[in-house]
Amino acid sequence: MYRTKTCGELRLSDVNQTVTLAGWVQRIRKMGGMTFIDLRDRYGITQLAFSGDQLTLAEGLGREYVLQVTGKVIERQSKNAQLPTGEIEIEVQQLNILNPALTPPFTIEDDTDGGDDLRMKYRYLDLRRTAVRRNLELRHKMAFEVRRYLDEQGFLEVETPVLVNSTPEGARDFVVPSRMNPGTFYALPQSPQTLKQLLMVSGFDRYFQIVKCFRDEDLRADRQPEFTQIDCEMSFVEQEDILQMFEGMSRHLFKTILNIDLPALPRMTWADAMKYYGSDKPDTRFGMTFVELQDLFHEAEAKKPEAERFTVFANAQYIGGICAKGCATYTRKQLDALTDFVRRPQVGAKGMVYARVEADGTVKSSVDKFYSQDVLQQMAQQMQAQAGDLILILSGDDAMKTRKQLSELRLEMGRQLGLRDPKQFSCLWVIDFPMYEWSDEEQRLMAMHHPFTSPKPEDIPLLDTDPAAVRANAYDMVINGVEVGGGSIRIHDAKLQEKIFEILGFTPEQAQQKFGFLMNAFKYGAPPHGGLAYGLDRFVSLFAGLDSIRDCIAFPKNNQGKDVMLGAPGVIDQIQLDELQIDIKKKSN
Ligand code: AMO
Repeated sequence: MYRTKTCGELRLSDVNQTVTLAGWVQRIRKMGGMTFIDLRDRYGITQLAFSGDQLTLAEGLGREYVLQVTGKVIERQSKNAQLPTGEIEIEVQQLNILNPALTPPFTIEDDTDGGDDLRMKYRYLDLRRTAVRRNLELRHKMAFEVRRYLDEQGFLEVETPVLVNSTPEGARDFVVPSRMNPGTFYALPQSPQTLKQLLMVSGFDRYFQIVKCFRDEDLRADRQPEFTQIDCEMSFVEQEDILQMFEGMSRHLFKTILNIDLPALPRMTWADAMKYYGSDKPDTRFGMTFVELQDLFHEAEAKKPEAERFTVFANAQYIGGICAKGCATYTRKQLDALTDFVRRPQVGAKGMVYARVEADGTVKSSVDKFYSQDVLQQMAQQMQAQAGDLILILSGDDAMKTRKQLSELRLEMGRQLGLRDPKQFSCLWVIDFPMYEWSDEEQRLMAMHHPFTSPKPEDIPLLDTDPAAVRANAYDMVINGVEVGGGSIRIHDAKLQEKIFEILGFTPEQAQQKFGFLMNAFKYGAPPHGGLAYGLDRFVSLFAGLDSIRDCIAFPKNNQGKDVMLGAPGVIDQIQLDELQIDIKKKSN
């Protein structure tokens, strides 16, 4: 037996027992005639004490050596209240070096001196750190509770293939060449969307899968090229059934994992989310909702001679403001920094207007010379601003773009004011998404969710007259400004599906070639169905209070999509390329 106890379990009640432990050397301290070693395993840290004749046992050991020790549990002289095992130590009698270790390139402690790149290169060492391991333990527990809940609700976990064809979720595909069918490629699934719909046609009724999905897209803190979905689908359901079922799943997770009783989730239409938060994933932990000011300012402008106009507002299609309570004390320097923030290319605003409500109620703004106190007072009133408050305003020609810029400013203010506490949770459903969004790049309407999403029945007539105005039976679950999940009621009628493909610009031949298998399946008795998928990585990182989903993934990719530990992606042998009949053209320059 390698060990009789773990490094996390011994307490005062175990004193006088003889135990055998195994683990890694975390730290060695020599003090007078004693040597202390912190021995670490997955379960905790136990202090080993060497003295007298046993001192020689501890000689020549180094950090991260793998040891097996046998000794007696004794009460510590100076206890460590920070450690669960802090009241005891092991008086070592025997020591066996199971494996020596090179000095690790960074300290394996909660606060490590290792930078990101180094930790990723030696991820197996990084994973020894308690802080990182805890995230993976949490991930395991969450996945386990998801399975428990869905199993209790009668869902079946079914595996779907990884070597498939392109699935239209809007990102680029990762492709895999087929040796047996030269010149052809599999695509890795962006999600099992079409396959889970086929399972509904097969009568599975309630499906789920905790499944890897692959998307070749620009990476951000909440995006990885391969990530995990909790993918679900149900038959004979309406939107309400799905919202109830998965609100239940979230409630189960909050209760079992965090012991939080989740209240009923509010629902916000997509239109309201955009109007009041400028985002389809509003962070509702704090208010600071948008107030539209274009009517007020346009009216004021109309009364002035042309030469005195503030052209920025006069010509803006949209003018919106947020009110930061108690922030009238912001200095010129802080306001300039906010202006720089909104001007950054990632935000893209041209400038920012601000106004302070002074203690006596007067409004002092950066546009004082253009507007009377009367107009500024009306503005403060519309903004519900009081003495001591700060109003920040953005304007622009494109209402949607300006709202998104104001959303960034709102989030930044929320951050500066400490209103985005990761330990506080605010969850909601965003519903009634538009079916389509205009793509400047492709110069056509694109499916906002995916092309299998059904329109709201009452909006179907608009498909012929004003497709951009059609709303979908689609919904997202949003927690603290993060889209954790999303789904829709699907089209189960082959004719309607054909029409949607047509609006998306597919010719009947293209639609048949790409999605014929699904449209044909619909002709064999498809039940009404719908579902959703959660991003497991995002869900876990929210629960763990992490800034990036990378920290809850055992072996993540970096921002260039690389695994620096494995050296992936890498080049492959010419022999392999030849077998695949792939000719890599060398760039001439
Ligand atoms: P969607 O594309 O909205 O829907 O994805 C579902 C959820 O997956 C997570 N997610 C990601 N997480 C990490 N890295 C990524 N690159 C990434 N992309 C998406 C998000 C998102 O809410 N088939 C549909 C679902 C359905 O309609 O049932 C789908 O994939 O949390």
